[in-house]
Order: sequence, then structure tokens, then C-alpha cells
Amino acid sequence: MTGLNDEKESARQREYIEKCREIIAERSEKSGRPLSAIVCTFGCQMNERDSEKIMGSLMEMGYERALSEEDADIIIYNTCTVRENADKRLYGRLGVCKAYKQKNKDMLIALCGCMMQEEHVVDKIRKSYPYVDVLFGTHNIFKFPELLYTRLTGNSQIIDIWKDTDEIVEDLPTRRKYSFKTGINIMYGCDNFCSYCIVPYVRGRERSRDPKEIIREAEKAAADGVVEVMLLGQNVNSYGKGLDTKVTFAELLSEIAKVDGIGRVRFMTSHPKDLSPELIQVIAENKKIARHIHLPLQSGSDRILKDMNRHYTKEQYIKLALKIREEIPDVSITSDIIVGFPGETAADVDDTIDVIEQVRFDGAFTFEYSPRTGTPAAKMKQLDKAFVQENFDRVLSTVQRISKEQAGRFEGRVMEVLIEGEDEKDASRYTGRISQNNVVHFPKMGFSLGDFVNVSLDECMGFYYNSKTASGCLTDALC
Ligand code: SAH
Ligand code: SF4
Ligand code: F3S
Repeated sequence: MTGLNDEKESARQREYIEKCREIIAERSEKSGRPLSAIVCTFGCQMNERDSEKIMGSLMEMGYERALSEEDADIIIYNTCTVRENADKRLYGRLGVCKAYKQKNKDMLIALCGCMMQEEHVVDKIRKSYPYVDVLFGTHNIFKFPELLYTRLTGNSQIIDIWKDTDEIVEDLPTRRKYSFKTGINIMYGCDNFCSYCIVPYVRGRERSRDPKEIIREAEKAAADGVVEVMLLGQNVNSYGKGLDTKVTFAELLSEIAKVDGIGRVRFMTSHPKDLSPELIQVIAENKKIARHIHLPLQSGSDRILKDMNRHYTKEQYIKLALKIREEIPDVSITSDIIVGFPGETAADVDDTIDVIEQVRFDGAFTFEYSPRTGTPAAKMKQLDKAFVQENFDRVLSTVQRISKEQAGRFEGRVMEVLIEGEDEKDASRYTGRISQNNVVHFPKMGFSLGDFVNVSLDECMGFYYNSKTASGCLTDALC
């Protein structure tokens, strides 16, 4: 879709927001209290960002933020289907919602996100959960105001799912979860078709956003007080494909780091096959870019990597990771690992463990392979569960041992921390993160949320640091 159509569509949806606002105001007057909304997010940062957009529309309509699902007048579940347990969580929650609806007859339930792009899910909701009011997918999230208006003025369940889209409609309200940090989508969808993964089917083809729009969004966020941005995409390293202006991810990243007021830039996720030497150089030379690269390995076995359609070998991965460690001192490398992919043997798992030990991951999510309907790997012969569990435990204990050892390496150093919240266990202390993404707890000492401060990492407690002192901020751009 062109920019002009984007503007037209956004204006149309803003009209629906206004129309909903009138209805919400009437309902609120009738019930003698403000109406409230909650958006519950499952899944990744893309979903988190989408939820901020949905919340933006809801708040413009006059809803307040509800503290719990039970208290809300509208609940939106933004779903994930990357693994099977994500699906199970939704059905459990929907069961509970039925009771809430019996107590509050006007309560509305809407479902969106990746699960809604699967036909069997929509069929199941239609048949077994008739009390769900609105269903929409990942491609038409911008249409939420229109769909909600249709439901508010009618009686039937509204279902609107698109198979795919080449449209990007962005110019709609958004409400950030945090005032000082935000995600920015730089691209949508994925074209990699890793054989285990459902994301390309539910998020559609890869589409990069215009760099000027992305920079404008970062500038606007900075003007609102945001100091840390995370650039989001399923494979940020292939950013720029199909755009009229030739621009690489490394170029975009250095442009974003130049935005006044932005003190730290993160990004997620990197595919090892597309991570360029130029990107490593840009990170190495730019202090504002976080010393953290999430580089999913998935498997260390060449045979399994091939069957997974990952387009790199064990040796290429190790070489790349060690080059990153060499050129970006103090960098933290984290990863995703899948255990139990069809055909995986104990020797394949040994290869995965070997990579963990050689690269020394600072952290890694370890997932048991979960067959997803419609993906090539789901049709392959599946492994025995007990065998997978045994291998999973081996991988997990290696990851935990190494990441604990790695975490200790900054003990005694003074590092820059972004204050992100109050320490949950001690209200006199803050919690924040260093550039490498490790968590630090330290005394408040008159600082505020969103400040960058210098913290002495006195004691490593396994996966976080405890500190006795914090002092003035380090980030050049902000001080
Ligand atoms: N685009 C990102 C990953 C998004 S999904 C990337 O390629 O890096 C996040 C993680 O979920 C993946 O890295 C993978 O480790 C895991 N995952 C995806 N599909 C899975 C499946 N079917 N079973 C188990 N884990 C899976
Ligand atoms: Fe899934 Fe692979 Fe795309 Fe990541 S790169 S979203 S794992 S298909
Ligand atoms: Fe889940 Fe969709 Fe993200 S399947 S991991 S929410 S792209």
C-alpha cells in the first residue's frame, strides 16, 4: 500500500474510533463508572508492540486501563502459536472468561494475533466459543476500531481474517507500556520458512518499512521521552529487501543511533545467515548500540540444520560468533535452541552442546520441538518423548552452567544501567539493565525511571547483579 492509502485508511479508522468513543461514553454514563480494557499478550516482542497499538485505539475510545481481566469491560487476547503450549494457554483463559461474562453481560472478548491466522483455530472458536465477540488476524490489526464498532452496533460474532497482505497501515494511536522504552517495527513477516516454524504462515511475506518512516517514529518516541528503542523484525539482517531506496540494516541502525535523546538501541532478531561484517563494525564503533546480539542457533548439527532449512553450518555459526566476540569486546551473545527436531540423534545433540561450549552463550532459550500444523517438519516422523526429554535436560544444564559462568565476568566493573522499574523484592531499590541485557538491582539514590546511571556491579547473584551504589549518567547524548 502507498503512503497515501495508509493515510486514507488511518483516517477512516480514526473515524471509527470517534464513533466507538460516543458509544463507550453512553455506556459509561449508564453504568455510572468509566469502562476499562485489558490487552493480554502472548508471544514475542512483535505481539507486544501490536498490543500497544490496540491499547492506543482503546484509550482514544475512552476506555481506562483495567487492572485485571475480571474487572475489564473488554479483554483482548493477542495470541501466539509458535509452540503448542501457547495455544493451550488461550483456551484455558477463554474458559474462565465465560464466568466473567455471566457477571458482566456487556463485557466483550476479542481475539487477535498469530493463532487467528490458523483455520482450525477459527473453526474451533466459532463452534465452541460463541461468546467471543470479535476475531481478527495479524494482517488487519489496523482495522480493530472498525470491527469493534460493528460489534458494538450489532449482535453477532465478528470474524475478519486476511490470508496475507502487502499493506502497511501505521499512522494510528499507540500507548506504550513503558514511557522510557519502546519497540519499533522495521519489517513485518518472514520469508525464511525454517521447516519447523509457523511464523511465515501466520505473519505473511517479509515487508520492510520505509527507513524515513522508521526514523520519524524514533524521533517522535524520543520527543515523548523514550530513551531506548528496540528495532523489531523476524530477521532484521535482511532488512531493506524490496525497498526503492537501497538501505541495509547496518545503515538503518547507525541512523537510529544518531536520533537525539535515544541513549540505547537494541534489535531483535538476527538470523546468522544474513549477519553482515558491516553490521558487526557498526555495533563495534557505536557505543549507543547495545552490546547484545541474540543469534538463534537452533541446532549445532549440520544434518539437522539442513533439514531445518537454516542455511548455515556448525562451523559457519561458530566462526561468526567468535568474530563477533573478537570485534565487539564485552558483547553478550544469546540464543534459541530447539531439542527434539525429527531425526535428531544423541550425536546431533552432542554437536549442539559443543557449540554452546565453544561460543559460551550468555543465555539461551531451550525449546522442545513442537510440531506445527502445515509446516514441513510436522509431517516427518516424530521422536520418542522420553528420548527428547533426556536430550533437553543435557542441553539445558549446559546452557545454565555456561551462562552462569559468563554472567560473573562483569563483577566489580562499573557499567551503565537503564533504570526500568522498582526492585520487586525491595521498594528502596531499582532494577535496570546493562547494555549486555543483564539485570542489576541497586539503591534508588534519587534517580528516576528511564535514567541512565553508572552502577558498580558489586556482586553477581547467578543471573543478576546486586549493587551498593549508583552515580550520575554516562550516556554522552543525554548528559
Ligand atoms: N525469527 C526468529 C525466531 C522467532 S520464533 C529467528 O529466526 O531467530 C522464536 C524461537 O522459537 C525460534 O528461534 C525457535 O527457537 C523457536 N521455535 C520456533 N518454532 C518452533 C517449534 N515448532 N518448536 C519449538 N521451538 C520453536
Ligand atoms: Fe521462523 Fe525461521 Fe522466520 Fe525465524 S527466520 S521466524 S525461525 S521461519
Ligand atoms: Fe508467536 Fe507470532 Fe511472535 S507465533 S512468537 S507471536 S510472530
